[in-house]
Amino acid sequence: MLLGKEGKGTELAMQIIVKLGELYGAQRLIPISQVHIDGCLYAAVGEAGLLFAEKLHNLGAKVRVPTSLNATSRDIDNWREHGVDPEFAEKSANLEKYYLSMGAVPTWTCAPYQSGIIPRFGEQIAWAESNAIVYVNSVIGARTERYGDYTDICCAIVGRVPDFGLHITENRAGQILIDCTHLKLIPTTDYFAVLGYLVGEIAKNRIPVIKGIPHWVLGDHLKAFSAAIASSGAVALFHMIGITPEAPNERTAFQGRKPEATYELSQKMLQEVERKLSSIERTQVDGALIGCPHASVPEILELVKLMKGKKVKDNKELWLYTSRAVYYTLTLNGVIEELNQKGVKIFKDTCFVNTSLDKWNFKNVMTNSAKYAHYIPSRTGLKVVFASLDKCLETVVE
Ligand code: F3S
Repeated sequence: MLLGKEGKGTELAMQIIVKLGELYGAQRLIPISQVHIDGCLYAAVGEAGLLFAEKLHNLGAKVRVPTSLNATSRDIDNWREHGVDPEFAEKSANLEKYYLSMGAVPTWTCAPYQSGIIPRFGEQIAWAESNAIVYVNSVIGARTERYGDYTDICCAIVGRVPDFGLHITENRAGQILIDCTHLKLIPTTDYFAVLGYLVGEIAKNRIPVIKGIPHWVLGDHLKAFSAAIASSGAVALFHMIGITPEAPNERTAFQGRKPEATYELSQKMLQEVERKLSSIERTQVDGALIGCPHASVPEILELVKLMKGKKVKDNKELWLYTSRAVYYTLTLNGVIEELNQKGVKIFKDTCFVNTSLDKWNFKNVMTNSAKYAHYIPSRTGLKVVFASLDKCLETVVE
């Protein structure tokens, strides 16, 4: 591949992968079975990302393993209703076209573990998108490093990665112990989002082992936890004793080593994080945003229950983001139409902080996602209130 015998696009991708391996002192390359790409998000990669994809496309590069695509910068079928600027939408469309021409699968979601190309425990893969990396490493137990824009597509083109970091068993050992046994845990995604945000702040770039999480915890709680831990910290992997597959007990999670430090969490610490995630009062919001990461089928069915006999207030907005797989599934049984009738706007393929929404003139928004609460002020200039789903609905629904 390096000699260009498999085409110029593959040669360029392999040069980049070899350089990455050299930077990390890797001794060899290992095969991977699949890739999840984040570089398809125009709002994140901009003109440079567009040129890079165009170059690979022009050089004839093709992905070598099943490759899914992250959220894109527009709802592909519905971007006008979403208020996206036409010029911006065109750039996004071009970027989408290049990734599809290289053979990637149009999943268009930041929660690829809910639908699409899902690995098994222990599988060597290369995923980008911070929440997805944490979830797939921790909850599924597949193995990926924190790949990012540009390297992700190169991994897909050569079907190999340097053998470094979290691909190697010893590097997956827990480093710090987080004790939740004194918390009164609540089974909601916003509670686990706050918990994840707090653990990310403490862990920074270390691997936390969390004890005291009960068995009723759901995949959607761990999704919210994964997105939050990767927003406040540079975390790519956590272990939860008795919950995640590499942590049947403390000894296994730490691979027989001693924790570098132990942190006991309190209710007060969680309250402090919750307070920090909001920049204004609840009453002032223009609308509520849910579905970061993209909403799952159970989350949308829960919303249907909560919306029984209610509708969105005339002067407020309720926006939900999901994948096209979930959207079309729930179109078939009438759920999407039912929510639309109640004034809920449902967008697929994309995300509030990664598109262009100038026409709406929003000033303040509300969300039950810690990741949205973290990024909305810096990425959109809007103020944000972080609250539970119940409180979001209380505010925008009558
Ligand atoms: Fe997905 Fe956007 Fe959140 S890409 S994880 S909905 S910030």
